[in-house]
Amino acid sequence: MSVRISVIGTGYLGATHAAGMAELGHDVIGVDTDEAKVRALASGQLPFFEPGLPELIAKHVAPGKLRFTTSLAEAADFADIHFVCVGTPQGESGAADLSHLHAVIDGLVPALGRNTLVVGKSTVPVGTAQSLLPRIAALAPSGVDVEVAWNPEFLREGHAVHDTLHPNRLVLGVSSPGAEWALRNVYATPIAEGSPVVVSNLPTAELVKVSANAFLATKISFINAMAELCELTGADVASLADALGHDDRIGRKFLGAGLGYGGGCLPKDVRALIARAEELGSGRSVEFLHGVDAINARRRDRVVEEALSVLRTVNGRAFGRVAVLGASFKPLSDDVRDSPALDVARRLSRAGAWVTVYDPQAAVPARSAAPELRYAANAVAACRKADVVLHLTEWAEFRDLDPRRLRDAARGRVLIDGRNSLDPSSWLAAGWDVRTLGTLVTQEPKAGTQPSLVGGRV
Ligand code: UGA
Repeated sequence: MSVRISVIGTGYLGATHAAGMAELGHDVIGVDTDEAKVRALASGQLPFFEPGLPELIAKHVAPGKLRFTTSLAEAADFADIHFVCVGTPQGESGAADLSHLHAVIDGLVPALGRNTLVVGKSTVPVGTAQSLLPRIAALAPSGVDVEVAWNPEFLREGHAVHDTLHPNRLVLGVSSPGAEWALRNVYATPIAEGSPVVVSNLPTAELVKVSANAFLATKISFINAMAELCELTGADVASLADALGHDDRIGRKFLGAGLGYGGGCLPKDVRALIARAEELGSGRSVEFLHGVDAINARRRDRVVEEALSVLRTVNGRAFGRVAVLGASFKPLSDDVRDSPALDVARRLSRAGAWVTVYDPQAAVPARSAAPELRYAANAVAACRKADVVLHLTEWAEFRDLDPRRLRDAARGRVLIDGRNSLDPSSWLAAGWDVRTLGTLVTQEPKAGTQPSLVGGRV
């Protein structure tokens, strides 16, 4: 059954959710305070890169299934269910800033003319939904019943459309059977297709979200800690991850050792969970997350130090040229928030190196976040006269590079593969000194011989 839905906040999450809800057959209005963004979305334009999303928005804007407005009153009038997708940025202390969420409640609730379900999708500290209830009760017009539910989102950047339409689970934090029924109705299609549903209360739903991201971060830092030990002992972290991953209690996913995690979610959610646990007087419960964060930071330090060791240093200043392949925090995204690649590039630049970056999608946001760096139009141009080449975001096109062309362009021969994802044999064959993070670099076996290990770890 088609539902009239509003999606409030049309950033990354909201724009995807609005388009996804229209694709599921609902009538959707997206709301944002930013007029320029609303105009752009209404003409199918996105201020960020996400494969398939502009097409999905255009598909549903044309017949009027999806429209955008700046007016909360219009949304209040139109929709029966309101999804709140506004940002909850991190303050200095690590705690989330809920001012956008409060502003939505303050604007929306007094305008409601009938009983309504307000569904939080934003990532919030556990306890937030409960804390909104008195605020909502005070603002609701008399005779209007406003119920709150929480339905966290688990989409991955770069796969946002797929993850919205085919969620690997739906978490419904509800306080009544009516709210559960309404949300099951919204998600009737993915539920019929087999997406599992977990129904629970409000704090559980809030906590699922941050704990999922903290768990993923922990998995990455775990394998990166093992990579540190591999570097000291001659063990190979890629084989180790394969061997661990065959145990289906562990699983192979998120055991990719390398430069570590970044982006707008994992680093923020780890710190937000620490901050919330401390607020609750239970900092000890998540003490290990400080270690997770520290391991992640050390991987970046390691790559910076290795690159500097290749350059000439005079009185603590580095001289030489560095080519950085990748600026986004991961492939298939132009997001440079807390990007490990850009962080390493900036630190090398601050140390004195001449740093040139190439990224297939993120040049514009990277340039605005790090204007002090130089940006090239392609990988070969970035590597021109470079003393050291750093592979820091594993875009598929980097795997297809011809190491001989880069060798001819570069001045030095050192490749640091910060994502352990290039094929070392072709780089070695082209004369590169390949260095990785805890994996062994193996020379392609010649006919009739055994493979030989040529070391090459950072
Ligand atoms: C993450 C979660 O995966 C989503 O489920 C969640 O919905 C989202 O945060 C969010 O909270 O909105 P995302 O930030 O898009 O999604 O990125 P991930 O795919 O999780 O990757 C995060 C970082 O971990 C990237 O920098 C990636 O390069 C790194 N990573 C990932 C590794 O270093 N090793 C791995 O094995 C996997």
